[in-house]
Amino acid sequence: MTKPPTARALRVLQLTDPHLMADAEGALLGVNTRASLAAVIDEVLSHQGRPDLILATGDLAQDASTEAYRYFGEQLKAFGCPTLWIAGNHDHAGLLRSIASEFNADTKHHIQGGWQFLMLDSSVPDKVFGELAAQELVFLDETLARNPDLPAMVCLHHHPVDIGSGWMEEIGLRNREALWQVIDRHPQVRVVLWGHVHQEVERQRRGVQLLATPSTCIQFATGSADFAVEPLAPGYRWLELHPSGAIATQVCRAGSFRFELDENSSGY
Ligand SMILES: [Fe+2]
Repeated sequence: MTKPPTARALRVLQLTDPHLMADAEGALLGVNTRASLAAVIDEVLSHQGRPDLILATGDLAQDASTEAYRYFGEQLKAFGCPTLWIAGNHDHAGLLRSIASEFNADTKHHIQGGWQFLMLDSSVPDKVFGELAAQELVFLDETLARNPDLPAMVCLHHHPVDIGSGWMEEIGLRNREALWQVIDRHPQVRVVLWGHVHQEVERQRRGVQLLATPSTCIQFATGSADFAVEPLAPGYRWLELHPSGAIATQVCRAGSFRFELDENSSGY
């Protein structure tokens, strides 16, 4: 008797914090954000091939412009797969959702490959810090309660744990305890994934893998008390999710992208 073929892992790409602008020449600390995103997309296609799903975890636009969101959607067509977008502190959440709907990227609960993905909006208008509104927490709790058997990934923009960087601690998720209380009630949650910190983070909390990822443009210095950037290449995260709930993941970078970072800036 032959064994049935093992189900293939779902291949997921996280792209985060592209900080795109309406102006094609728009740059962040000297880095053209359209060019750095293009370098990341080329790197993914040449080294990984096409993913099955893309998670875009906020700060899609630096200037909250319609043009930036449309440009992002057009660039992702190169992958030919579903994409899910959430807002960051630099985004206009309402405008982002409306452009995302043009690209079928505004789904908050997505099921694919034996996994479920819950996309939370942690953005607060005109604030850099994040907070999950009561309706987001209710959505998370009720959706997980209705779907107890599928391994789950929860995505948001702001970091829900201290990442050891003083200036970033002020601008993380404010009501993180409320998030963890919900997650602790639902053991099918395997991964919490975020953006915002422009650096790689990998932690564990009570059996949940906590992951953050470099930006597709500039990178913040790890462990810095004050705002600081470091000249690391634009990056992305690749995840392989097995229906059993097991995952493999790595951060990769567009190492051949050439840029001159303004390292003396006091903000972004
Ligand atoms: Fe960002």
